[in-house]
Amino acid sequence: MTIINGSSLALILVLSTLVTCKCNAAGVPLADQTIFNVMDFDAKPNSELMSTQAFMKAWRAACDFTGHARVFVPPGVYTLGETVFAGPCKGTHSIILEIAGTLKAVPDVSEYSNFAWISFESINGVIITGGGTLDAQGQSVWQFNDCKTNPNCVHLPATLHFNNIRNGKIMRLKLINSMGFHLHITSSYLVRFHGLTIDAPEDSPNTDGIHISKSNTIKLSRSVIRTGDDCVSFGQGTNNVTVNKVTCGPGHGISVGSLGKLAGELEVRGLIVKNCTLRGTTNGIRIKTYAGENANRALGMMFSDIVMENVKNPIIIDQSYGDKSTDSLSQVKISDVVYQNIRGTTSSEIPVQLLCSSKLPCENVRLTNINLKHIENTPITSQCQNVNVGYTGVQIPSPCQGPSS
Ligand SMILES: *[C@@H]1O[C@H](CO)[C@@H](O)[C@H](O)[C@H]1NC(C)=O
Ligand SMILES: *[C@@H]1O[C@H](CO)[C@@H](O)[C@H](O)[C@H]1NC(C)=O
Repeated sequence: MTIINGSSLALILVLSTLVTCKCNAAGVPLADQTIFNVMDFDAKPNSELMSTQAFMKAWRAACDFTGHARVFVPPGVYTLGETVFAGPCKGTHSIILEIAGTLKAVPDVSEYSNFAWISFESINGVIITGGGTLDAQGQSVWQFNDCKTNPNCVHLPATLHFNNIRNGKIMRLKLINSMGFHLHITSSYLVRFHGLTIDAPEDSPNTDGIHISKSNTIKLSRSVIRTGDDCVSFGQGTNNVTVNKVTCGPGHGISVGSLGKLAGELEVRGLIVKNCTLRGTTNGIRIKTYAGENANRALGMMFSDIVMENVKNPIIIDQSYGDKSTDSLSQVKISDVVYQNIRGTTSSEIPVQLLCSSKLPCENVRLTNINLKHIENTPITSQCQNVNVGYTGVQIPSPCQGPSS
């Protein structure tokens, strides 16, 4: 005889709901959702005809709706020019944008006024998912990127730009060949990214995977990022950000900065990067600041359980970015940085470089269990300048000799 008491009955009910629930990504039963299918707004799949207006109208209808709204993009290839999904929206539920199809950008930079192909503005509660592909066709416009020769160059449009977003989730999407950055998030709070695949050629210019600035409580996890520039970059005003289980490479690796480029920048504080793999990147974990006089600070950073595979500069603090002088006068203060359990292979003879400012030396930098090996078994060393470092555990290469400041 089986006796079912109240609590196990409740458990069974919960379990059976979990098993049978036809739910959306937010766990909302589909029956309670109102679907805004872009086809009903005159989208033109598998055509060169633009679907921009159809997408924006579907979004507008969902945004003005007060119940559970889901904008649906069925399978098919859609051509989109500059597209803006703006709030504030009327409902209190997150709007779901489910992209099952492939979106292709119009590969003409004059089409974009706002430095973004698809932007999300001033929205509280949005989930973007669906397994679809965002193909920005950057290969047709990379020739117009002159950032190598022009320090004041204008960046090409980002694939997805998030401005003033609260409470967002971006997951299960593929982004390829961005014109500028793939993802750019600014002035936002509480946004999670996971299950993303980002792909652009190793020689594509400034195609960062994700650039974060002026944002608080951002999480990126379980993603694979292969690009021609930084995998993840943390710009000014980045606070409380976690990057977990991300694979980077090719590209320039994970970067804090560049900081100190502009006057009045906001500080960077509270970064955790853990369980990541860098594969064939030029840098592993890089902190870069300009040597000039703009003040800022970057503090409270932890880089833990990172595997380097054939990385040129696995650990590097470069406070002379954009300036060749060996004695950096950077006014960006770097402190409280932990590198822990960093292992793998490098192509550099100096895989650990902590080159700080003589004006504001780095403080409280800690290296714990560093175990690197040259790909050709060449001996390796560390280099330090103007830095106060503490070492614990294994140190290969061996620590910097003598006083380092
Ligand atoms: C920092 O982020 C975590 C999630 O990663 C969150 O739980 C926590 O509340 C955030 N802290 C602050 C001060 O915003
Ligand atoms: C990294 O992942 C391993 C296994 O997945 C886990 O044991 C370890 O605690 C993780 N490290 C961090 C810093 O999360």
